Amino acid sequence: PIVKELLGLSDLEETLRTRFSLRQVVIVPGDSDVSELTKKEVGRAGAAALRRYASKNDVVAVAGGSTLAEVANFLTPSVQMKGCMFVPARGGLGESVELQANSIASTMAKKAGGQYRLLHVPDHLGEEAYVSLMQDPNILEIVEVIRSARIVVHGIGDAMVMARRRKVDSQTIQELMAEGALAEAFGYYFDREGNVVHKMQTVGLRLEDIQETEVVIAVAGGKSKGEAIAAVMKFGHEDVLVTDEAAATELLKFI
Ligand code: BG6
Repeated sequence: PIVKELLGLSDLEETLRTRFSLRQVVIVPGDSDVSELTKKEVGRAGAAALRRYASKNDVVAVAGGSTLAEVANFLTPSVQMKGCMFVPARGGLGESVELQANSIASTMAKKAGGQYRLLHVPDHLGEEAYVSLMQDPNILEIVEVIRSARIVVHGIGDAMVMARRRKVDSQTIQELMAEGALAEAFGYYFDREGNVVHKMQTVGLRLEDIQETEVVIAVAGGKSKGEAIAAVMKFGHEDVLVTDEAAATELLKFI
């Protein structure tokens, strides 16, 4: 807290909190783009936020990504998280195994001493496959658990960075550009105003579920993500933002 006062980060937290009508904003010093240590601190602060909002027997839906992997690393066993059920927010999105939501959910459960359930859905589902998967009783059952989540924790990415990382085909890349996709979170792409302009076909949380979720926690840092974070905040269904100084400063340009 003393460091935050000196750097003016507390004021910045309050400015962003008010602008985006959030419950809480946490800013750690530094820039995750250039410092692994800062990224870890963002992860640590994300874990603290999750601990703060979690209560006994919550379903916690988590997204994938390297930032969420850091959040998972900093979870420790706690009384209120013991009964928590960790589940992936959505099915396969084309991430490498370590960055998949399934992996993050199981790590979080192990670190926090909670339970987990996995969702095995292949990446890049076609319409037909989607429809038949949604008739499978086992899939349906876990999807219902996911949709009942009280807490969602997710990262935010730049749309093109995420599309390339997930090896999206070139036609879809063209579409995303034409649609003005700027940010990506849990498989949804947002334009600069925070409108959802594209969705990846998979099962799990729908937009209407996220709108109803009691606590949505976004964890994302680094100067390069400033504008993407602004877009997702404008979407307007976030409750808590955990970020770093560089992203927060950049974010100010887009409010
Ligand atoms: C994930 C989200 O949590 O993090 C993605 O599902 C997001 O939508 C991604 O884009 C960001 O990944 P990283 O590795 O930059 O934390």
